[in-house]
Amino acid sequence: MELIFATHNEGKVHEIQNIVGDNIKILSLTDIGYLEEIPETGSTFNENAFVKANTIYQIYRKPIFADDSGLEVRALNGRPGVYSARYAGVGLKNFEPHIVKLLNELNGVKDRKARFKSVICLIINDKTYYFEGLINGQIIDHPRGNNGFGYDPIFVPDGYTKTFAEMDLDEKNKISHRSQAIRKMIDFIMSEPQISE
Ligand code: IMP
Repeated sequence: MELIFATHNEGKVHEIQNIVGDNIKILSLTDIGYLEEIPETGSTFNENAFVKANTIYQIYRKPIFADDSGLEVRALNGRPGVYSARYAGVGLKNFEPHIVKLLNELNGVKDRKARFKSVICLIINDKTYYFEGLINGQIIDHPRGNNGFGYDPIFVPDGYTKTFAEMDLDEKNKISHRSQAIRKMIDFIMSEPQISE
């Protein structure tokens, strides 16, 4: 079957196609010819994932999913959360200011607990389903590692000593919030024969 992924991020499409295997062909927004950005207007991960999936579903009426994710820091009452991509400002060319802002806010704070959360919204045959992935960890004082993206250099998952940015993609994908949510979605699709045909 074909499944549209409401994203322009080809890296994410590649990552997810890797996890999904050959049974399902993942199509990006570029693949289906939708070239606009979909605004993230919600105040929760669920709302944003739904808005992205539903905007495209209303046009194409084909099986589609969208994800929304971010970092929730306990000492900051869950911030940056849904604002993770625009924490220190909108449309910044590199990610460093977001990391600097977060580390400044945590300066001297002992509680370093944080978690990445990912929510996927799937719409098939006019029905909407949600799948969630979480990974707990700690925010370190200084960035380490060059892989990955976003807050990866300052996040060490519980039970590990490396940051996400010091892991290779396979290592991160075994445990990441996004891969957990994706696996739940794929298990669901595969368990519903009328969907996976
Ligand atoms: P989105 O789900 O692509 O909108 O991601 C929102 C933001 O959350 C990203 O720009 C990153 O700042 C952050 N984020 C989400 N997932 C990860 C991850 O796996 N590593 C690092 N940062 C992430």
